[in-house]
Amino acid sequence: MGLKVERYERIVLYATVVVLVLAFGAIVLSAVESNIHLPEDYRTIDPNAVYQTPPFDEPGVYQVGEQEYEAVVVAQAFSFTPSEIRVPAGSTVTFLVTSTDVTHGFLIPRTVVNGMVIPGHITRITADFDEPGEHLIVCHEFCGIGHHAMYGKVVVEG
Ligand code: CUA
Repeated sequence: MGLKVERYERIVLYATVVVLVLAFGAIVLSAVESNIHLPEDYRTIDPNAVYQTPPFDEPGVYQVGEQEYEAVVVAQAFSFTPSEIRVPAGSTVTFLVTSTDVTHGFLIPRTVVNGMVIPGHITRITADFDEPGEHLIVCHEFCGIGHHAMYGKVVVEG
């Protein structure tokens, strides 16, 4: 009698472990399959020498392919340099962003662009801009007294 209960409990235990492993596996698999990942931590940089370190010594927008652009952006309290990024409609833009001081945010509402900008790190995010229009770039990481006034924009030209 006692032995039967033990075996039953063991089966339940094994079943629980199997279910947990399957559930975890399903999460990992779906993340891998749909290519979900955090914004890449592209590489590190000396936060005290941002404006002396390429490509941040020349912030701006650069055409790197037929419809591909690279936007090199420096975040500092309380602005983005450059504050305006202009690209033609149909562009794929890779943003490279770093900070000279504290942690900032880099959010472009209604796009996939949503990253943290950490001093010493380069945040790299790629997004498509198909429709002409204007997008705000918002710092959504509290960075000090001027946080609410820290924004830029992407102008997609038709
Ligand atoms: Cu920069 Cu908030």
